[in-house]
Amino acid sequence: MERRKLIIDCDPGVDDAVALFLAFAARDALDLLGITTVGGNVAAPLTARNARLVREIAGREDVPVFAGCPRPMSRAPVEAGHFHGESGLGALTVHEPAAAAAAEHAVEFLVRTLREAPVGAITLAVTGPMTNVATALTIAPHLAGRLREIVVMGGARSEGGNITASAEYNIHADPHAAQLVFAAGCPVVALGLDLTHQVRSIPRRIDAIRAIGSPAAQAVASLLEFSSRLPAHAPREHGAPLHDPCTIAWLLQPQLFELRPCHLEVETGSPLTLGHTAVEFRARPDAPMHVRWGVGADGEGVFELLRSRLAAAAEEVAVT
Ligand code: RIB
Ligand code: CA
Repeated sequence: MERRKLIIDCDPGVDDAVALFLAFAARDALDLLGITTVGGNVAAPLTARNARLVREIAGREDVPVFAGCPRPMSRAPVEAGHFHGESGLGALTVHEPAAAAAAEHAVEFLVRTLREAPVGAITLAVTGPMTNVATALTIAPHLAGRLREIVVMGGARSEGGNITASAEYNIHADPHAAQLVFAAGCPVVALGLDLTHQVRSIPRRIDAIRAIGSPAAQAVASLLEFSSRLPAHAPREHGAPLHDPCTIAWLLQPQLFELRPCHLEVETGSPLTLGHTAVEFRARPDAPMHVRWGVGADGEGVFELLRSRLAAAAEEVAVT
């Protein structure tokens, strides 16, 4: 199978970290060109530190980390520390990772890499506020035509919001960036709360991952357990929704998901509904339908993918 060239833009963040662990474990399928980080769940220095720490635990210091934009394009920052803990990595013990971040800014890396790569070669997975990506597209708008596609965790339609009544966090945290990215014209797969709420970290699924026993699997189990014990996700038996890892799971096994073409626009003017995603399935002559919206997910299949990838990576380490 040809390895997909991938850049992950993220704000780790408990579920971003699980997404990174899954991507790091899928070395045979994903050619990770770099991890770019952005201010979001927690402040930018912490999201960059956390990406480096996950990289260290996963043993993937071959993948560079690039720190990016510390704040949204125009609105005031809004963090989500209450979902991710003070460190941004839940109950994990954190330290300063040995390997530093790259000196290049995330936006410079995105612009340079997309300019140098063949057209259609690179996929972007975005699991935080889209500030870095939108800034890169502002500097070089033609880059939208050079991307293979963007897979985004963000938005909500039938599920309502998780940070306000009508907005999901990633879009609400930088709505102007999100609108710019969705309007840029490159193919987008948008996996919002309508889909991620169908993928739940129920206790037996966490236990199956913990049983693998590797440092990466133990860290993933700890991160999932932390989310599931949050009051916002009670009762624990129902499990916390698994948001960001669905982007990587879609890249690895798209057959686990159901998507529908839509026209998607982001509310950027109303303080009441700022960051709302208007997902329109009805075709209109003036509205491009280049976004595919996630409507269905096989939760059991996603967790078996996560478990099996972590187990295989643990085996790989054990025999080397
Ligand atoms: O709404 C879920 C999203 O917001 C996830 O990306 C999570 O990490 C938070 O950033
Ligand atoms: Ca995130």
